[in-house]
Amino acid sequence: MSFTLNGKSALVTGSGRGIGRAIATRLAQAGASVMINDLDETALQETECLLLRAGYPKVKHIAGDLTDPAFPDKLVKGTLEALGSLDIIVNNAGYSWDNVIQKTTDEQFQAMLDIHLITPFRLLRAASGFIRETAKAETAAGKRVMRKVVNITSIAGTDGNPGQAGYSSGKAGVIGLTRTLSKEWGRSNVNVNAVGFGLIETRLTQALTSEDSGMDMHGHHIRLGVQQGMLDSIKHACPLGRLGTPEEAAGAVLFFCSPLSDYVTGEVLICGGGYHF
Ligand SMILES: NC(=O)c1ccc[n+]([C@@H]2O[C@H](COP(=O)([O-])OP(=O)(O)OC[C@H]3O[C@@H](n4cnc5c(N)ncnc54)[C@H](O)[C@@H]3O)[C@@H](O)[C@H]2O)c1
Repeated sequence: MSFTLNGKSALVTGSGRGIGRAIATRLAQAGASVMINDLDETALQETECLLLRAGYPKVKHIAGDLTDPAFPDKLVKGTLEALGSLDIIVNNAGYSWDNVIQKTTDEQFQAMLDIHLITPFRLLRAASGFIRETAKAETAAGKRVMRKVVNITSIAGTDGNPGQAGYSSGKAGVIGLTRTLSKEWGRSNVNVNAVGFGLIETRLTQALTSEDSGMDMHGHHIRLGVQQGMLDSIKHACPLGRLGTPEEAAGAVLFFCSPLSDYVTGEVLICGGGYHF
C-alpha cells in the first residue's frame, strides 16, 4: 500500500454489518484506530470480534441510535476520549423505508431525512469544535494535517428513484451538506467528500422472498430488499453486469480517507459499476 493511516483515528457509523463493516475493516487494515457504531449492539460486537480476531487491536465500539438528537454529540465525545483524536469521519449509517409518494407518511419521509441528512449534520457539528481548534493549533505550529469526512450517498440521491421519495431526498440533501462543509472546513485542512453507491450486496439489496427480512426501527418493522425481477434487470443494465461487494464499496471510501485524495474536496464519487437509475 502506498500510504498508511497509522496514527489516524476514524469513526464509522453503521458499521455493525454491510458496507460500514467493510469500511471499518479497510481502515483498520490501513493502520487506523477505528471507533465503530451501530444501533444493533449484537452486530456491532460481531464486527469488533472479527476485527480483533483478524489482528487489528485498535478498535472500539459505542452502540446507540444516531437519530436520538443527543447521541451524535456523545459519540464524538466518546470517540475523542477513547482514541484521543478524530481524523476521519464516515457517515455511513442508513436504511431505506420505501413507498410511492401517495403512500409515504410524514413519519416515513422524516425518518429518511433524519438518518441520511440530519444525523450527518449533527455529527459533523459535534466534531466541528475539535476539528477547527486542532487545525488552528497545527497551523500555528507550521503543520498541515489533512482530516477526512466521507458522507455516504446513493445513485437514488443523484438520479432519483421511483418509490424512494424520502430516501432520495435525504441522500440528495447530504450532497449539499458535503459541498458546503468542504467550503467551510477547507481552511481547516479537511477534505469533505461523498461516495454514492449503486447496488451493493447487503441486506438492503437482498432478494425479497416470502421469508420476511427487515429491521425494527422506532416501533415499525421495515422490510428491506429488492424484488428479484428488479435485481435481474439492474444486473442486465449494469455495465459491469453485477452488484458490487461491500469490500469494493469500501475501496472507494478508503480513497477519500487516504492521503491519495488530499487535494480533492466537495466531490461525489459514484461507485456503482457504471449503473445509473
Ligand atoms: N447497499 C446498497 O446497495 C446501497 C446503495 C446506496 C447507498 N447505500 C448506503 O450505504 C450505507 C450502508 O448501507 P448497507 O447497504 O451497508 O446497509 P446495512 O443495513 O447492511 O448496514 C447499515 C447499518 O446501519 C445501521 N443503522 C441504521 N440506522 C441507524 C441508526 N439510527 N443509528 C445507528 N446505526 C444505524 C444498521 O443497524 C446497519 O447495521 C447506507 O447509508 C445506505 O443508504 C447502500
